Amino acid sequence: GKSIWLSRHGESIYNVEEKIGGDSPLSNRGLRYAEKLSELMESEVGDGNLTVWTSTLKRTHETAKYLPYEKLEWKALDELDAGICDGMTYKEIEERFPDDFRARDDDKYQYRYRGGESYADVVNRIEPVIMELERQDNILIITHQAVLRCIYAYFMNVPQDESPWMTIPLHTLIKLTPSVRGVKVTRLTTDV
Ligand code: F6P
Repeated sequence: GKSIWLSRHGESIYNVEEKIGGDSPLSNRGLRYAEKLSELMESEVGDGNLTVWTSTLKRTHETAKYLPYEKLEWKALDELDAGICDGMTYKEIEERFPDDFRARDDDKYQYRYRGGESYADVVNRIEPVIMELERQDNILIITHQAVLRCIYAYFMNVPQDESPWMTIPLHTLIKLTPSVRGVKVTRLTTDV
């Protein structure tokens, strides 16, 4: 049967600086994950069939760059748009926009960044991706924390309003194999 592999992009410069959003490149550690991911996928699918889906952002392209498979980029896989908070640290947001910071904590699923998006918005915009995913064979999706939480919640039947709090660490490959008994989940961790 087919499988779906999910991964966040490798560690980015913004991840290291604890800034959200942006379009920064990978750190050296992130690039090492990109190499590891390619090795991992080659042992998973060999020369079998796989298509790699990325967002339009640099950090997902760089994470995909060693993978010798067909690639497709989706704007719908871009990270949740943090609007006026894009490029800030959570500490800066809390200092400059304390009301927004608290409002987001109170209802993280519905909270929409000013000039940006909410998790609910992301769930709506990834719907075509989910539809296409159901029709496809083996797919590896390299995307971002918020988007990955929404996709993962969909397949795991987790209520979407819980998705903003799910833990999806960097440098971990999640393999989903749908079957009649439900979705089998395997987490492949790396030493990067
Ligand atoms: O910090 C990485 C990141 O992908 C940010 O770009 C994004 O705003 C954030 O995670 C989403 O996570 P949360 O919804 O928990 O703030």
